[in-house]
Amino acid sequence: MENSLIFELFEGLPRQGPGADACTEKMFSLLPDVPAAPKILDIGCGTGVQTLALATFARDAVITAIDVYLPYLDTLKKNSDERGLGQRITTKCTSMDDLPFGPEFFDIIWAEGSVFVMGFFEGIRYWKQFLKTGGYLALSELVWFTDRPSPGTREFFGQQYPAMTTVRGNEDKINAAGYTLLSSFNLPDSAWWSNYYDPFEIRLAEFENIYAGNDEARALVEVSRKEISLFREHSDEYGYRFFLLQK
Ligand SMILES: C[S@@+](CC[C@H](N)C(=O)[O-])C[C@H]1O[C@@H](n2cnc3c(N)ncnc32)[C@H](O)[C@@H]1O
Repeated sequence: MENSLIFELFEGLPRQGPGADACTEKMFSLLPDVPAAPKILDIGCGTGVQTLALATFARDAVITAIDVYLPYLDTLKKNSDERGLGQRITTKCTSMDDLPFGPEFFDIIWAEGSVFVMGFFEGIRYWKQFLKTGGYLALSELVWFTDRPSPGTREFFGQQYPAMTTVRGNEDKINAAGYTLLSSFNLPDSAWWSNYYDPFEIRLAEFENIYAGNDEARALVEVSRKEISLFREHSDEYGYRFFLLQK
């Protein structure tokens, strides 16, 4: 995500990746033992739909939400203030691979659709130092549901996300990073369409007009449309899985 046109493409969307409040709530309900006033770090929060959901489910939580793109954080700040949640949500523009926090500072780390930026293993290994012993890491990640994806799907993600692996492959990484896997579940297809691909398709048409003649923008639109059409045809082969880990 080093190119700013990508960030702009996703601006104004309800979310910047697949997900749903119901899935955030389900994952939060799976945490066995949440301390009072938990300190939560939301990594790669985007415009913060899941941050606001978390602040609603965890009524006394104190949340730090980080992202590298300031306009997303501005949107989250505005929305959290409007909902009266601003006192419990702090935003910080900083990179997930260089976090400015002390060791074992957080009770819970949350990362919906963002660990791919570092890579699943690299992300969970690096973030572990910021979690208290016994603390939870809840994160969603793109995974293969099959060992034998169809050729077009394999080729697309071979280029877009070569490190993508199977559920089993991710479980091996969780073990190798020294966490206990408590629970996991797949996001339903509706979590891709309702808040993400449906508004994204409208946004792509708008973006195409704004940046007519811009080769970089055209390439972004093409690859995004290809991604959406692959999901329409092959959502049984891959998807997002939400993992709950304990340190
Ligand atoms: C797929 S979006 C997910 C956003 C949000 N969690 C959601 O589910 O809607 C990935 C997010 O990671 C952010 N991001 C990209 N590189 C980052 C980095 N190095 N550090 C922190 N956030 C980053 C992007 O700006 C984007 O908001």
